[in-house]
Formats: sequence, structure tokens, C-alpha cells
Amino acid sequence: MSVEAVITQAMDLVRGVAGSVIECGIGEGRSAMAILEAVRPTDRKVYLVDSFNGLPDISVEDGCSSVFYTGQYRCDPDRIKRILGGYKDIRNMNIFAGVIPEFLYGLADNNFAFAHVDLDLYKGTIGALKFIVPRLSRWGGFLLVHDISQEGVAKAVKEYFKIDNLSWGLLDADYWGFVRL
Ligand SMILES: C[S@@+](CC[C@H](N)C(=O)[O-])C[C@H]1O[C@@H](n2cnc3c(N)ncnc32)[C@H](O)[C@@H]1O
Repeated sequence: MSVEAVITQAMDLVRGVAGSVIECGIGEGRSAMAILEAVRPTDRKVYLVDSFNGLPDISVEDGCSSVFYTGQYRCDPDRIKRILGGYKDIRNMNIFAGVIPEFLYGLADNNFAFAHVDLDLYKGTIGALKFIVPRLSRWGGFLLVHDISQEGVAKAVKEYFKIDNLSWGLLDADYWGFVRL
């Protein structure tokens, strides 16, 4: 299943759930575009957040065999904003350059129907979970975590949800974790 198919199916599940949509980790905008397609034609608020500096420093929690490296996925925010700006009909789209989790606490929104966390590393992921999960709708909110098979991401999810074993879905070549409240 492609990124687009996973996002579309997950977003379908929150069609009747009130709340905004948030993505942490925009990268080149592939999953963000799928989110924007799925949001149409509602006027849901969409928050897309990325430092655009690529991955921050790899920490011990990410493991020494991490496939990631500092600066990976760095991209030009203006180019990404231009691409996503093509979705002119989505009036409530907000693209923010900011470091997660610090930036998130400045958002004046406390109710998310759908969240996609795609930050690849432990620190960003645990920080995003701490902000998002308490604000995820208790009536069907949906959390999607990408790359849950990676050591740091898995550690963050296990730690946050206080679970020892993760079950995940292998969709296409990527592992995703999902939680529905
Ligand atoms: C794998 S890419 C995202 C890919 C995108 N979701 C897609 O499917 O096309 C990961 C992104 O997370 C961003 N990122 C990682 N840690 C971050 C943090 N702590 N704060 C902000 N952005 C971060 C990087 O800049 C990078 O663009």
C-alpha cells in the first residue's frame, strides 16, 4: 500500500470526527499532499510542521545501527510551501517551520481528529506524542506513526503508551503504527 493509500484510508476513518489535522514531518510533502487531498472539500484546519532542516542529531535512543543521519531530508521551505500552496481551495492550511515539540506548544488548538507523526527519531517522536495524544479526539481520533520499526521511533511509542510489545502493520515497504481512540 502506498503512502497515499495509507493516509487516505486513515483519513476516511475520521470523516465524522470533529477536530483538526496535524502532520509532524512534511519532508518533500508527499504525505502532506495525501492529507490535503483527503481533507477536501471540508474546511478542517490543517497544520503541517517541519523544521525543514532535516533530521536533528541522532541520539543513543535511536541505536547505533540507525539508518538515519543528521541533516537527512533537509529541504527548501519556500519550495515546499509553493508546492503545497497549489491547494488553494484549502483555506485552513497552515504550514509552519518549527522545531518539534517546542513549536507545537504555541499552537492554539487542542483538538485533533487525525495526526501523522513522521519524524524518524526518538526525541522528536516522543515530544510529538506528548503534545498530540492528550489533544487527540476521544471520539475516534486517529494517530498514525511512520517508521515504527525504527529503534528510536519504537522506543518512543512503547515508552509513551507504556507497552512492551508493539504490533504494527507492514504496508508497502514501510512500517506504520496506528492508534484509534
Ligand atoms: C521522513 S521526512 C518526512 C516525510 C514526509 N512525511 C513524506 O511522507 O513525504 C522527516 C521530516 O521530519 C523533519 N523533522 C525531524 N525531526 C524534526 C523535529 N524535531 N522538528 C521538526 N522537524 C523535524 C525533517 O526535517 C524531515 O523533513
